[in-house]
Amino acid sequence: MIIQMARRAERMSPSIIREILKVTERPGIISLAGGLPSPDTFPIEAMRMATERVLRDQPREALQYAASEGFGPLRDWVADHLQTHGLQADASQIIITTGSQQGLDLVGKVLIDAGSPVAIEAPTYLGALQAFAPYEPEIVTVPCDDDGPLPAQLDVAKGARFLYVLPNFQNPSGRCVSAHRRVQLLQAAQDIGLPIVEDNPYGDLWFDTAPPPPLASHWPEGTVYLGSFSKVLAPGLRLGYVVAPKALIPKLLQAKQAADLHTPGFNQRIVHEVIRDGFLRDHVPAIRARYKAHRDAMRAALERHMPPGCRWNAPVGGMFFWVEGPPSLDAVALLPKAVEHGVAFVPGAAFYADHPRLNTLRLSFVTVPPAQIERGIELLAQALKETI
Ligand SMILES: Cc1ncc(COP(=O)(O)O)c(C=O)c1O
Repeated sequence: MIIQMARRAERMSPSIIREILKVTERPGIISLAGGLPSPDTFPIEAMRMATERVLRDQPREALQYAASEGFGPLRDWVADHLQTHGLQADASQIIITTGSQQGLDLVGKVLIDAGSPVAIEAPTYLGALQAFAPYEPEIVTVPCDDDGPLPAQLDVAKGARFLYVLPNFQNPSGRCVSAHRRVQLLQAAQDIGLPIVEDNPYGDLWFDTAPPPPLASHWPEGTVYLGSFSKVLAPGLRLGYVVAPKALIPKLLQAKQAADLHTPGFNQRIVHEVIRDGFLRDHVPAIRARYKAHRDAMRAALERHMPPGCRWNAPVGGMFFWVEGPPSLDAVALLPKAVEHGVAFVPGAAFYADHPRLNTLRLSFVTVPPAQIERGIELLAQALKETI
């Protein structure tokens, strides 16, 4: 018996990164490949105490089915939090999602028809490409430089359903779009009536200065904004949120209901209990300080060991370095050699919808301790020197 699958199933593909991680998480390998936050930042004690309080004070509500929009006090908290980032949104415009990854899926479901163009940056977050693919978009890549999408080239996206963009400490390139570029980009998008889907899971992880306000703060009626608790609390909670123009909310909500009825109310109440009295005011700066020290360790190691012909960005937040080798480098072919040396990374090609730049690599600096970062970069440099 052959069970016939839908056409959309054919368009789904395994995450190349997850496949790589299976190989690289072997013991003894220094993995700079994972895109995971450091588990040392998870607020275990605060979670334990909050869980106890939720089970003591509101057990029936917490364990019951709940509203698809999300837990009211958590939506109010998100609205207040966004206001401190310059984004004015009413709680009625906020839907709590099962990770921001679900937000990407809901946006795809509601906004993409088969064959409709969707514009992306190059490189971009692979998980978004995977979320959109089943809805069969025609992906259009907007040319980018180190400051993000080029406003003068945005015409290639004319007629697209939206531009998917990560202005803060992008996964994978680590870049942060400047205030000036944000203004130009918004102007260009407004000129051609191009809605924006702004994904911002890393925005709070800045090292010295906060990034400029979100695109959504300047053009709320044209932007869908996605946020996440994964990088400031813990990804295992699967808690994120979508902020959308009012007209889109009913359809996003219907899509959400069809997908999972609601995001676990238990988790939402625990998280609200953890953060309601300002927990993140100390917790997030502690994450920033830790990640900054790791960034410094990786930058110093890159400067010490990398062969000539390689260049890298200077991430001012987030979790990633983006390394560019000489044009002859094939980072996909380099990976098995690097693993033999005892270090792993993600080849940058994984993050392009088309015309991958084969000479690029993504290096995560947050999960490996600084001493191992130093050794990992030394091993990577050895593998590179043998290849180029
Ligand atoms: C750019 C980007 N968007 C969305 C996500 C999904 O995050 P969440 O855990 O909130 O689903 C990730 C996860 O790494 C990401 O890097």
